[in-house]
Amino acid sequence: MIHTILTDEWGLRHPIIGVPMAGASDGALAAAVTRAGGLGMIGIGSQTHPDFLLQQAKVAHLAGAYGIGLMIWALDERPDLFEAALTARPALLSLSFGDPTPYVARCHAAGIRVATQVHTHAEAIQAQSAGVDVIVAQGTEAGGHTGSVATLPLLQIVLEAVTVPVVAAGGIASPRGVGAVVAAGAAGAWIGTALLACPETRHPPVARERILSARETETVLTHVFDRVQNLPWPDAYPGRALRNHFTGQWHGRREDLGPSSEAYQTFHRHRGDYDIDYLYAGQAVGLVNATRSAEDVVKTLGQGAEQWLRQRMATLFDVNQFQSLADNTEKDCSQGVPEES
Ligand SMILES: Cc1cc2nc3c(=O)[nH]c(=O)nc-3n(C[C@H](O)[C@H](O)[C@H](O)COP(=O)(O)O)c2cc1C
Repeated sequence: MIHTILTDEWGLRHPIIGVPMAGASDGALAAAVTRAGGLGMIGIGSQTHPDFLLQQAKVAHLAGAYGIGLMIWALDERPDLFEAALTARPALLSLSFGDPTPYVARCHAAGIRVATQVHTHAEAIQAQSAGVDVIVAQGTEAGGHTGSVATLPLLQIVLEAVTVPVVAAGGIASPRGVGAVVAAGAAGAWIGTALLACPETRHPPVARERILSARETETVLTHVFDRVQNLPWPDAYPGRALRNHFTGQWHGRREDLGPSSEAYQTFHRHRGDYDIDYLYAGQAVGLVNATRSAEDVVKTLGQGAEQWLRQRMATLFDVNQFQSLADNTEKDCSQGVPEES
């Protein structure tokens, strides 16, 4: 078993968090991830009714500990979503894309841990000062809305900058990826795209087929889908989606996406047609090649990472020498670690 704060203190079997994905992860997916030994989360969009949140929370709760994800920029207009999340009492509330400071104390008073996704050094410092329990370093490879710094540099920057536990997000969809981030010092992996082809998502089969056939080069970081839906996402957070005919035509043309535009009419006439409609997904989509249950994905990532790390350590280090060093150190600590021969 891999030991991090997520396994040893939070009680997870695997250091894997199934991320909140508005429109893709509801109670069923969250429950499946939790049953598999990770922590499943429900994604809540800025337009969602609080009753939906409460219904999905009941479904997830049947499996055990679960989380909910909200977007901070939406909460000024939608305090009802924050209140509903407090009522649901998840184990973890993810408050991302804004400053979590105003919300942390009420979560803690309700016995709820708080996570926040960060995209820069400054956001990590702000999150730590806000008192969050876990900081998620979300790289630009991630599916959905994200920042502009890649996971690997961002993870190193955030790990150096803060003392609270850090989880890595963005581009992690194999045992190697999970092993790499925990070896670097992360408490676990925040997994979204790897779950997008699972039957437990809200996506219809036609959308899951698109995920299965997309390559790592076929995503785009864009504002078009927010502008054409009139969603006031902050400029700092475009969304990473699969490229399609619509992004090919309208990406980068934000002034042409208003309610009377051709793009607007086209988009709203073709919802569910994924040549036009959006499918948020990260660059790790190139690793998602088969329909697998969420349980299979989580267990493969968790157990596979452990196995891969053990094999890798044995290859990187001389195991016998490593063992004799440990034995000698145990026998006589006063001599310090023996020198390499
Ligand atoms: C379809 C989809 C929807 C998402 N929706 C949300 C959301 O509602 N709230 C949120 O905080 N993050 C959301 N994200 C971002 C994830 O929390 C996470 O950072 C990302 O999926 C991790 O990178 P990966 O996709 O490479 O695994 C979404 C991601 C995807 C793929």
